[in-house]
Amino acid sequence: MEARDGIGLKISNDTLQLIDQTQLPHTEQWLTIADTQAMIEAIHGLKVRGAPMIGIAAALFLATKASAGAGADSLADDLARLRDARPTAVNLMFAMDRLAAALERNGPAGLIETAESLADRDAMLCEAIADNGATRIAHGEQIMTHCNTGALATAGIGTALGVIRRAHEQDKAIHVWVNETRPLLQGGRLTAWELGRLGIPYTLISDSMAAAVMATHRIDRVIVGADRIAANGDTANKIGTYGLAVAARYHGARFEVAAPYTTLDPECDDGSAIEIEQRSPAEVQGVAGAAGALRWAPIDAPVYNPAFDITPAELIDSWILDIDVFDRTDVAGGALDAGGGAFG
Ligand code: MRU
Repeated sequence: MEARDGIGLKISNDTLQLIDQTQLPHTEQWLTIADTQAMIEAIHGLKVRGAPMIGIAAALFLATKASAGAGADSLADDLARLRDARPTAVNLMFAMDRLAAALERNGPAGLIETAESLADRDAMLCEAIADNGATRIAHGEQIMTHCNTGALATAGIGTALGVIRRAHEQDKAIHVWVNETRPLLQGGRLTAWELGRLGIPYTLISDSMAAAVMATHRIDRVIVGADRIAANGDTANKIGTYGLAVAARYHGARFEVAAPYTTLDPECDDGSAIEIEQRSPAEVQGVAGAAGALRWAPIDAPVYNPAFDITPAELIDSWILDIDVFDRTDVAGGALDAGGGAFG
Protein backbone atom coordinates (compact mmCIF):
# COMPACT_ATOMS: atom_id res chain seq x y z
CA MET A 1 0.00 0.00 0.00
CA GLU A 2 0.98 3.60 -0.64
CA ALA A 3 2.67 5.25 2.40
CA ARG A 4 0.84 8.23 3.96
CA ASP A 5 2.06 10.85 6.39
CA GLY A 6 -0.75 13.15 7.53
CA ILE A 7 -1.27 15.32 10.59
CA GLY A 8 -3.47 12.64 12.17
CA LEU A 9 -2.96 9.47 10.11
CA LYS A 10 0.09 7.62 8.82
CA ILE A 11 0.58 4.44 6.85
CA SER A 12 3.84 2.61 6.41
CA ASN A 13 4.58 -1.08 5.83
CA ASP A 14 0.86 -1.92 5.68
CA THR A 15 0.33 -0.52 9.19
CA LEU A 16 -2.08 2.28 10.13
CA GLN A 17 -1.13 4.75 12.83
CA LEU A 18 -3.46 7.39 14.22
CA ILE A 19 -2.66 10.36 16.40
CA ASP A 20 -4.68 10.00 19.61
CA GLN A 21 -6.95 13.06 19.36
CA THR A 22 -8.10 12.66 22.96
CA GLN A 23 -4.54 13.50 24.09
CA LEU A 24 -4.08 16.60 21.92
CA PRO A 25 -2.85 19.29 22.10
CA HIS A 26 -0.43 18.59 24.92
CA THR A 27 0.61 15.03 24.03
CA GLU A 28 1.22 13.83 20.48
CA GLN A 29 0.84 10.10 20.91
CA TRP A 30 0.60 7.81 17.87
CA LEU A 31 -1.45 4.61 18.15
CA THR A 32 -0.73 1.58 15.99
CA ILE A 33 -4.05 0.03 15.04
CA ALA A 34 -3.40 -3.69 15.36
CA ASP A 35 -6.85 -5.16 14.77
CA THR A 36 -10.48 -4.40 13.96
CA GLN A 37 -11.52 -4.16 17.60
CA ALA A 38 -8.81 -1.53 18.19
CA MET A 39 -10.09 0.41 15.16
CA ILE A 40 -13.67 0.29 16.44
CA GLU A 41 -12.53 1.43 19.90
CA ALA A 42 -10.49 4.26 18.39
CA ILE A 43 -13.56 5.51 16.52
CA HIS A 44 -15.95 5.08 19.43
CA GLY A 45 -13.50 6.65 21.89
CA LEU A 46 -12.95 9.65 19.55
CA LYS A 47 -9.23 8.91 19.31
CA VAL A 48 -9.97 9.40 15.63
CA ARG A 49 -12.96 11.59 14.87
CA GLY A 50 -14.64 13.99 12.46
CA ALA A 51 -17.16 12.75 9.91
CA PRO A 52 -14.92 12.36 6.83
CA MET A 53 -11.92 11.14 8.86
CA ILE A 54 -13.69 8.21 10.53
CA GLY A 55 -14.76 6.88 7.11
CA ILE A 56 -11.28 7.33 5.64
CA ALA A 57 -9.46 5.86 8.66
CA ALA A 58 -11.73 2.80 8.74
CA ALA A 59 -11.32 2.33 4.98
CA LEU A 60 -7.53 2.62 5.08
CA PHE A 61 -7.37 0.27 8.07
CA LEU A 62 -9.25 -2.37 6.09
CA ALA A 63 -6.94 -1.74 3.15
CA THR A 64 -3.92 -2.44 5.37
CA LYS A 65 -5.54 -5.73 6.39
CA ALA A 66 -6.26 -6.62 2.77
CA SER A 67 -2.72 -5.71 1.79
CA ALA A 68 -1.40 -7.96 4.57
CA GLY A 69 -3.37 -10.88 3.10
CA ALA A 70 -6.81 -10.88 4.79
CA GLY A 71 -9.43 -12.79 2.79
CA ALA A 72 -12.68 -11.45 1.35
CA ASP A 73 -14.92 -13.10 3.99
CA SER A 74 -13.08 -11.69 6.99
CA LEU A 75 -12.88 -8.26 5.32
CA ALA A 76 -16.64 -8.34 4.72
CA ASP A 77 -17.26 -9.14 8.42
CA ASP A 78 -14.95 -6.35 9.56
CA LEU A 79 -16.62 -3.90 7.18
CA ALA A 80 -20.00 -4.58 8.71
CA ARG A 81 -18.66 -4.13 12.27
CA LEU A 82 -16.87 -0.88 11.45
CA ARG A 83 -19.94 0.52 9.69
CA ASP A 84 -21.73 0.49 13.07
CA ALA A 85 -18.92 2.05 15.13
CA ARG A 86 -20.71 5.45 15.31
CA PRO A 87 -24.25 6.13 14.10
CA THR A 88 -24.56 9.79 13.09
CA ALA A 89 -21.85 10.65 10.54
CA VAL A 90 -22.99 9.17 7.25
CA ASN A 91 -19.46 9.37 5.81
CA LEU A 92 -18.53 6.17 7.68
CA MET A 93 -21.44 4.30 6.10
CA PHE A 94 -20.67 5.86 2.71
CA ALA A 95 -17.05 4.64 2.86
CA MET A 96 -17.95 1.15 4.11
CA ASP A 97 -20.64 0.73 1.44
CA ARG A 98 -18.16 1.75 -1.31
CA LEU A 99 -15.63 -0.73 0.04
CA ALA A 100 -18.23 -3.53 0.28
CA ALA A 101 -19.18 -2.99 -3.37
CA ALA A 102 -15.52 -2.95 -4.45
CA LEU A 103 -14.80 -6.11 -2.44
CA GLU A 104 -17.75 -7.85 -4.07
CA ARG A 105 -16.65 -6.77 -7.56
CA ASN A 106 -12.86 -7.07 -7.43
CA GLY A 107 -11.94 -8.80 -4.15
CA PRO A 108 -9.35 -7.49 -1.65
CA ALA A 109 -7.35 -5.70 -4.40
CA GLY A 110 -10.48 -3.74 -5.30
CA LEU A 111 -11.01 -2.81 -1.65
CA ILE A 112 -7.45 -1.44 -1.39
CA GLU A 113 -7.81 0.61 -4.56
CA THR A 114 -11.14 2.05 -3.43
CA ALA A 115 -9.90 2.93 0.06
CA GLU A 116 -6.90 4.78 -1.34
CA SER A 117 -9.04 6.60 -3.86
CA LEU A 118 -11.56 7.63 -1.15
CA ALA A 119 -8.72 9.13 0.90
CA ASP A 120 -7.18 10.96 -2.07
CA ARG A 121 -10.56 12.26 -3.15
CA ASP A 122 -11.44 13.47 0.33
CA ALA A 123 -8.37 15.71 0.19
CA MET A 124 -9.50 17.02 -3.22
CA LEU A 125 -13.04 17.62 -1.93
CA CYS A 126 -11.62 19.70 0.94
CA GLU A 127 -9.73 21.89 -1.56
CA ALA A 128 -12.88 22.44 -3.62
CA ILE A 129 -14.93 23.31 -0.51
CA ALA A 130 -12.22 25.75 0.61
CA ASP A 131 -12.19 27.50 -2.76
CA ASN A 132 -15.99 27.66 -2.96
CA GLY A 133 -16.36 29.05 0.56
CA ALA A 134 -13.42 31.45 0.71
CA THR A 135 -14.44 33.47 -2.35
CA ARG A 136 -17.49 34.67 -0.41
CA ILE A 137 -15.49 35.90 2.59
CA ALA A 138 -14.72 39.63 2.62
CA HIS A 139 -11.59 41.33 3.95
CA GLY A 140 -11.50 41.68 7.74
CA GLU A 141 -14.36 39.30 8.57
CA GLN A 142 -14.93 37.97 12.07
CA ILE A 143 -15.83 34.28 11.76
CA MET A 144 -17.12 31.97 14.47
CA THR A 145 -16.70 28.18 14.30
CA HIS A 146 -17.61 25.17 16.42
CA CYS A 147 -16.04 21.76 17.04
CA ASN A 148 -13.09 20.71 14.87
CA THR A 149 -13.42 20.52 11.11
CA GLY A 150 -9.78 20.77 10.06
CA ALA A 151 -6.99 18.48 8.94
CA LEU A 152 -7.58 16.23 11.96
CA ALA A 153 -11.17 15.64 10.85
CA THR A 154 -10.56 14.90 7.16
CA ALA A 155 -7.91 13.51 4.82
CA GLY A 156 -7.20 17.04 3.58
CA ILE A 157 -7.24 20.61 4.89
CA GLY A 158 -10.71 20.31 6.39
CA THR A 159 -14.22 21.55 5.65
CA ALA A 160 -15.28 24.67 7.62
CA LEU A 161 -11.70 25.10 8.81
CA GLY A 162 -10.48 24.58 5.24
CA VAL A 163 -12.62 27.54 4.14
CA ILE A 164 -11.17 29.62 6.97
CA ARG A 165 -7.64 28.52 6.09
CA ARG A 166 -8.11 29.43 2.41
CA ALA A 167 -9.46 32.89 3.34
CA HIS A 168 -6.38 33.39 5.54
CA GLU A 169 -4.10 32.26 2.70
CA GLN A 170 -5.83 34.85 0.52
CA ASP A 171 -4.70 37.53 3.02
CA LYS A 172 -8.24 38.43 3.99
CA ALA A 173 -7.22 39.46 7.53
CA ILE A 174 -9.90 37.31 9.13
CA HIS A 175 -10.25 36.64 12.85
CA VAL A 176 -11.69 33.37 14.15
CA TRP A 177 -13.81 32.93 17.28
CA VAL A 178 -13.46 29.32 18.43
CA ASN A 179 -16.15 27.78 20.63
CA GLU A 180 -14.58 25.33 23.04
CA THR A 181 -17.29 22.72 22.24
CA ARG A 182 -18.40 21.00 25.43
CA PRO A 183 -18.30 18.31 26.57
CA LEU A 184 -15.26 16.92 24.72
CA LEU A 185 -13.66 20.26 23.83
CA GLN A 186 -12.83 19.62 20.18
CA GLY A 187 -12.76 23.40 19.65
CA GLY A 188 -10.66 24.29 22.68
CA ARG A 189 -8.20 21.44 22.17
CA LEU A 190 -8.08 20.66 18.44
CA THR A 191 -9.25 23.72 16.50
CA ALA A 192 -7.17 26.04 18.67
CA TRP A 193 -4.17 23.74 18.07
CA GLU A 194 -4.68 23.66 14.30
CA LEU A 195 -5.22 27.43 14.01
CA GLY A 196 -2.11 28.08 16.10
CA ARG A 197 0.00 25.85 13.86
CA LEU A 198 -1.34 27.69 10.80
CA GLY A 199 -0.75 31.13 12.29
CA ILE A 200 -4.41 32.12 11.91
CA PRO A 201 -5.49 34.70 14.53
CA TYR A 202 -8.18 33.34 16.85
CA THR A 203 -9.87 33.83 20.21
CA LEU A 204 -11.10 30.88 22.25
CA ILE A 205 -14.42 31.26 24.09
CA SER A 206 -16.57 28.90 26.12
CA ASP A 207 -19.77 27.78 24.38
CA SER A 208 -21.94 29.76 26.77
CA MET A 209 -20.28 33.00 25.58
CA ALA A 210 -21.19 32.61 21.91
CA ALA A 211 -24.45 34.59 21.86
CA ALA A 212 -22.95 37.33 24.03
CA VAL A 213 -19.97 37.62 21.68
CA MET A 214 -22.39 37.98 18.76
CA ALA A 215 -24.12 40.79 20.68
CA THR A 216 -20.98 42.64 21.73
CA HIS A 217 -18.66 42.01 18.77
CA ARG A 218 -19.35 42.03 15.04
CA ILE A 219 -19.57 38.39 13.92
CA ASP A 220 -19.98 38.31 10.13
CA ARG A 221 -20.52 34.61 9.74
CA VAL A 222 -20.57 31.30 11.54
CA ILE A 223 -19.12 28.39 9.54
CA VAL A 224 -19.52 24.84 10.83
CA GLY A 225 -19.07 21.34 9.44
CA ALA A 226 -21.64 18.54 9.28
CA ASP A 227 -22.00 14.89 10.16
CA ARG A 228 -25.03 14.30 7.96
CA ILE A 229 -27.17 16.53 5.78
CA ALA A 230 -30.72 15.40 5.02
CA ALA A 231 -32.34 15.88 1.60
CA ASN A 232 -34.18 19.01 2.81
CA GLY A 233 -30.94 20.58 4.15
CA ASP A 234 -31.51 19.85 7.86
CA THR A 235 -28.02 19.31 9.22
CA ALA A 236 -26.66 17.13 12.03
CA ASN A 237 -23.49 18.51 13.58
CA LYS A 238 -21.76 18.70 16.95
CA ILE A 239 -24.06 19.48 19.86
CA GLY A 240 -24.32 23.26 20.25
CA THR A 241 -24.55 23.96 16.52
CA TYR A 242 -28.32 24.48 16.61
CA GLY A 243 -28.06 27.06 19.38
CA LEU A 244 -25.41 28.93 17.39
CA ALA A 245 -27.68 29.01 14.35
CA VAL A 246 -30.54 30.47 16.43
CA ALA A 247 -28.22 33.10 17.90
CA ALA A 248 -26.70 33.91 14.49
CA ARG A 249 -30.14 34.51 12.96
CA TYR A 250 -31.09 36.85 15.83
CA HIS A 251 -27.84 38.80 15.50
CA GLY A 252 -27.79 38.98 11.69
CA ALA A 253 -24.69 36.80 11.19
CA ARG A 254 -24.64 34.45 8.20
CA PHE A 255 -24.80 30.77 9.16
CA GLU A 256 -23.06 28.37 6.77
CA VAL A 257 -22.43 24.62 6.66
CA ALA A 258 -19.33 23.34 4.84
CA ALA A 259 -19.19 19.65 3.86
CA PRO A 260 -18.23 17.22 1.10
CA TYR A 261 -20.93 15.44 -0.90
CA THR A 262 -20.12 12.30 1.11
CA THR A 263 -21.95 13.96 4.04
CA LEU A 264 -25.23 14.22 2.11
CA ASP A 265 -27.82 11.57 2.86
CA PRO A 266 -30.64 11.59 0.31
CA GLU A 267 -32.18 8.63 2.17
CA CYS A 268 -33.07 10.95 5.07
CA ASP A 269 -35.93 13.22 4.00
CA ASP A 270 -35.32 15.54 6.93
CA GLY A 271 -33.40 15.81 10.19
CA SER A 272 -35.89 13.71 12.17
CA ALA A 273 -34.62 10.62 10.29
CA ILE A 274 -31.01 11.14 11.45
CA GLU A 275 -29.92 8.97 14.37
CA ILE A 276 -28.25 11.04 17.10
CA GLU A 277 -25.48 9.30 19.03
CA GLN A 278 -25.98 9.28 22.80
CA ARG A 279 -22.76 9.14 24.77
CA SER A 280 -21.62 8.27 28.27
CA PRO A 281 -22.83 10.36 31.26
CA ALA A 282 -19.20 10.53 32.44
CA GLU A 283 -18.42 13.01 29.63
CA VAL A 284 -20.79 15.53 31.20
CA GLN A 285 -20.23 14.66 34.86
CA GLY A 286 -16.55 15.52 34.54
CA VAL A 287 -13.65 15.25 32.18
CA ALA A 288 -11.17 12.52 31.25
CA GLY A 289 -7.67 13.83 30.72
CA ALA A 290 -4.06 12.72 30.45
CA ALA A 291 -3.78 13.02 34.23
CA GLY A 292 -6.84 10.81 34.80
CA ALA A 293 -10.54 11.52 35.22
CA LEU A 294 -11.80 14.58 37.09
CA ARG A 295 -15.42 14.35 38.17
CA TRP A 296 -17.27 17.43 39.42
CA ALA A 297 -20.93 16.34 39.32
CA PRO A 298 -22.51 14.16 42.02
CA ILE A 299 -21.64 10.54 41.30
CA ASP A 300 -25.29 9.72 40.52
CA ALA A 301 -26.19 12.94 38.63
CA PRO A 302 -28.64 12.00 35.85
CA VAL A 303 -27.25 13.11 32.49
CA TYR A 304 -28.49 13.65 28.94
CA ASN A 305 -25.56 13.59 26.50
CA PRO A 306 -26.45 13.69 22.79
CA ALA A 307 -23.24 14.11 20.75
CA PHE A 308 -24.99 16.00 17.93
CA ASP A 309 -28.00 18.20 17.24
CA ILE A 310 -30.05 19.02 14.17
CA THR A 311 -30.06 22.52 12.75
CA PRO A 312 -33.20 23.05 10.67
CA ALA A 313 -32.55 24.09 7.05
CA GLU A 314 -34.45 27.35 7.56
CA LEU A 315 -31.70 28.58 9.91
CA ILE A 316 -28.91 27.82 7.41
CA ASP A 317 -28.01 30.49 4.85
CA SER A 318 -25.80 28.31 2.67
CA TRP A 319 -24.31 24.87 2.25
CA ILE A 320 -20.74 25.11 0.96
CA LEU A 321 -20.14 21.83 -0.86
CA ASP A 322 -17.36 20.65 -3.15
CA ILE A 323 -19.57 20.99 -6.21
CA ASP A 324 -20.91 24.47 -5.46
CA VAL A 325 -22.46 26.71 -2.82
CA PHE A 326 -26.21 26.26 -2.41
CA ASP A 327 -28.56 28.67 -0.72
CA ARG A 328 -31.86 27.96 0.93
CA THR A 329 -33.93 28.38 -2.22
CA ASP A 330 -31.68 25.95 -4.14
CA VAL A 331 -32.03 23.43 -1.33
CA ALA A 332 -35.80 23.79 -1.14
CA GLY A 333 -35.78 22.97 -4.88
CA GLY A 334 -33.94 19.68 -4.25
CA ALA A 335 -30.41 20.85 -5.26
CA LEU A 336 -28.69 18.85 -2.54
CA ASP A 337 -28.55 15.79 -4.75
CA ALA A 338 -24.86 16.21 -5.60
CA GLY A 339 -24.46 13.03 -7.66
CA GLY A 340 -20.84 11.89 -7.53
CA GLY A 341 -19.49 15.17 -6.15
CA ALA A 342 -17.03 17.55 -7.75
CA PHE A 343 -14.77 14.81 -9.11
CA GLY A 344 -17.30 12.46 -10.67
O1 MRU B 1 -17.83 13.79 17.70
P1 MRU B 1 -16.94 14.34 16.65
O2 MRU B 1 -15.77 15.08 17.20
O3 MRU B 1 -16.53 13.29 15.63
O4 MRU B 1 -17.85 15.40 15.89
C1 MRU B 1 -17.33 16.05 14.76
C2 MRU B 1 -18.21 17.11 14.24
O5 MRU B 1 -19.33 17.30 14.65
C3 MRU B 1 -17.67 17.91 13.09
O6 MRU B 1 -18.15 19.21 13.12
C4 MRU B 1 -18.14 17.23 11.78
O7 MRU B 1 -17.86 15.87 11.83
C5 MRU B 1 -17.48 17.82 10.60
S1 MRU B 1 -15.77 17.31 10.48
C6 MRU B 1 -15.17 17.90 9.01
